[in-house]
Amino acid sequence: MNKWYDEIKEAQSVDTLEEIRLAVFGKKGVLAQEFAKMKTAPNEEKSKIAQELNTHKSSLMNEFTARKITLQTLELQEAMKAEDIDVSMFSTTSQSGALHPVMETMDRIVEYFSSMNFAVKTGSMIEDDFHNFEALNLPKYHPARDMQDTFYFKDEMLLRTHTSPVQIRTMMNNKPPIRMIAPGAVFRRDYDITHTPMFHQIEGLLVDEMGKVSFANLKFILEDFLKYMFGDVDVRFRPSFFPFTEPSAEVDISCVFCSGKGCRVCSKTGWLEVLGCGIVDPNVFEAVKYEDVSGYAFGLGVERFAMLIHQIGDLRSLFEGDIKLLEQFQ
Ligand code: DAH
Repeated sequence: MNKWYDEIKEAQSVDTLEEIRLAVFGKKGVLAQEFAKMKTAPNEEKSKIAQELNTHKSSLMNEFTARKITLQTLELQEAMKAEDIDVSMFSTTSQSGALHPVMETMDRIVEYFSSMNFAVKTGSMIEDDFHNFEALNLPKYHPARDMQDTFYFKDEMLLRTHTSPVQIRTMMNNKPPIRMIAPGAVFRRDYDITHTPMFHQIEGLLVDEMGKVSFANLKFILEDFLKYMFGDVDVRFRPSFFPFTEPSAEVDISCVFCSGKGCRVCSKTGWLEVLGCGIVDPNVFEAVKYEDVSGYAFGLGVERFAMLIHQIGDLRSLFEGDIKLLEQFQ
């Protein structure tokens, strides 16, 4: 009987202890066997044997219970140690977010014009025909007004096709002088490698007394701005047409891919078109009831700037939210 006390004390796991329990207290265990033997013992010894066996039974049970509690506690402690989570520990695999290249480019453009004292204005993405077209001298027959090019709602409401309506709203709500830019999303019914139905523009407008604003002022600030954005590039102004400016120009920079030598991106011309600008057309001032003023305006596409700065080939990749692509711009 005595060896079972040692067995219990030395058991190293709850499982081993369970095996011992069956061997000692089970139906066919040693105690049962000893009690069975008792039946064949001489009558005068029976009560003594029974007493002894019952003492062993309760002492072994006490040992067993004590050891079981100790082993269970140890096993629990070990399990807890294994699952231990240190919530204050830094993970080496976590990734930090970054601004989307379009937003980062937009921020840089806004930063430049803010430093030149241009106020930042925003307008509604849902506009009406008057602010988006009419007041900007975009005649009724202009192709931009076509159902094919513009997303229309009912009652002459539409998704703005450019940020130029913010010029109109700013002038109608404020007296001159005006010095503003308007960054924001615009919408057109277009989708291919170089067009997406939603993209971002920045509109600029400066208005002051008649005779105070010249094309030379416009040329100076845009050249300075483009060098700030693209570094040491050549800038050229090409005569063009916009309904809301007269005269109008498109502005090119020397190709950032081939430094003006001519490549696939610039169609071998050495130049990349980056924005439109001009002197505000008198018809626009008339629509907002401004008198004796002059001004210049310009407009640019933010995605195009981001693509040229980061040398991204396909415009659509900017809208796919592909983490692998975006991670490269952190
Ligand atoms: N609104 C024009 C567009 O969406 C961009 C633009 C060109 C704005 C010339 C201007 C400007 O203010 O003077 O294509």
